[in-house]
Amino acid sequence: MKKLVVLLLGVCALFSVLPVLADSQPSQYAQVSADERAAVATVNPYATQIAIDTIARGGNAIDAAIAAAFTLGVVDGHNSGIGGGCFILVRMADGRIFAIDGREMAPAAATRDMFVVDGKANPELSRTGALAAGIPGSVAAFDKLQKLGGKLTFREVILPAADLAEKGFSISPALAERITATADNLAKFPASAAIYLDKNNKPLSAFSLLQQKDLAATYRSIAKQGSSYFYSGDFAKKTGRWMAANGGMITSKDFANYQVKMRKPIVSEFAGYTLYGFPPPSSGGMHVAQILNILEQFDLNKLAPAERYHLMAEAMKFAFADRAHWLGDSDFTKVPLSIADKRYAKAIAQKISLEKTTADITAGNPDVDIQHLMQKHTTHIAAADLDGNWVAITSTVNTSFGSKVVIPGTGVVLNNQMDDFSAQVGAANAFGLVGSDANAIAARKRPLSSMSPTLVFKNGEPVMTLGAAGGPTIISQVVQTLLYALNDSMPVEKAMAQARIHQQWNPNLLFVESAMPVEIQQALQKKGHELKIWPSMGASQAIQLRDGKLVPVAEPRVILQNSTK
Ligand code: GLY
Repeated sequence: MKKLVVLLLGVCALFSVLPVLADSQPSQYAQVSADERAAVATVNPYATQIAIDTIARGGNAIDAAIAAAFTLGVVDGHNSGIGGGCFILVRMADGRIFAIDGREMAPAAATRDMFVVDGKANPELSRTGALAAGIPGSVAAFDKLQKLGGKLTFREVILPAADLAEKGFSISPALAERITATADNLAKFPASAAIYLDKNNKPLSAFSLLQQKDLAATYRSIAKQGSSYFYSGDFAKKTGRWMAANGGMITSKDFANYQVKMRKPIVSEFAGYTLYGFPPPSSGGMHVAQILNILEQFDLNKLAPAERYHLMAEAMKFAFADRAHWLGDSDFTKVPLSIADKRYAKAIAQKISLEKTTADITAGNPDVDIQHLMQKHTTHIAAADLDGNWVAITSTVNTSFGSKVVIPGTGVVLNNQMDDFSAQVGAANAFGLVGSDANAIAARKRPLSSMSPTLVFKNGEPVMTLGAAGGPTIISQVVQTLLYALNDSMPVEKAMAQARIHQQWNPNLLFVESAMPVEIQQALQKKGHELKIWPSMGASQAIQLRDGKLVPVAEPRVILQNSTK
């Protein structure tokens, strides 16, 4: 009887989170083109609108996604931009599938212990200022994508964002909040302060006009000269000079040596669907597959909700323990692909009890005050068209405004992706993630990521594109959306509205959204989980093919937060 009550409560919970927003999609964040042949979902109405306008100008989903990415660099620069990196999964109209790696690379002068001071990793160095940045890869990756399958020119997809940067836009409350939260660090860099702070070094307020003339000029130069402006032209030279004068390591030669890599996607099966995920240097594809593989060892449809959440948490814990030990840039370290193997999942499943959480946690004790990071950086763009182009781009400058450095005269915020390396074995990064030698810093290496752009196929045909922002919760969000949408056949907007959980092995805490019913929280505590309640977790975007129509869905939590600010 008790089990039945928990089951019923859980079933209610599975359909009661953010129902109004779930039903009100699409919105200005998630739009279908006028001819209904294309769809786009992003976290920002300007970006989605410019992407949809790109379709109207004769572009396809690939053009639209790139136009959205450049626009997000203007209106959402705390999350992503051309000073950062990205991973792109794309299924082209002709059926080819590519994983384009535009992740940042460490400069040639980078060394394993570059952030270790007096025997201890100094997080300030890897998060703020000249040393924190890797060589940005987004421009090269977008260029590659455009050449592979865009219908418009690179110039045509960049210019609308340049115009918006020049004309300016009204600062959203969410952006104003991010500027305020990082104002002290932005103030350390005059070119950053000149954009985001007023004459008295006070943060620009919500609804004031933000014009970025330098960024507009940089975009226009890329539009005119191509990505070579960025990697071997004026941008690279200016950055090299600024770095040399400000204690950085990046040289213009590092820019010239930047390489986009074409990777082999991680392919797995779940609930009768085929999933394509992003391989290392992302951990995303590997662990999304691993967690789903573990889950399917159990009779998911017979589990009570608390049991299901418990099982998910346990599977996440095993996956994140593997992440900390095994994962890194596969050009530098051997990453066992068997992590995503069904046989390995079976072996892990045998260690999982549905009654009690496993307790053998041995790693360190990183800072757990990470809630503020899990929704406030990185961005995901979903775009698709009925010609068969399906795009998933996850793009980031890492934490809010990356390194906080804007190279004078460029308007470009440089990332702080060097913090995604393991500065020292056992030292936590900004997200509380620890790592091993596999993710140690080395010259020209790429830091490990959790970004998980994902494409879903049924009988060989694309049916969904999705991904998320939110550090390691990206992996958990994508897993949960796939579980609900594919195993439970929920429409993706409902799947995304379910209360989310996240367990990353270290710290050994189960992060739970406050929308989860108290009874389920208590049942999880009884199984031994230490809960940490977060008001809201993550920012996913997806497009699903339903009855021949494209259904775009933007994160209901982001829309809700923006509408209540
Ligand atoms: N910078 C966050 C990630 O790549 O996972």
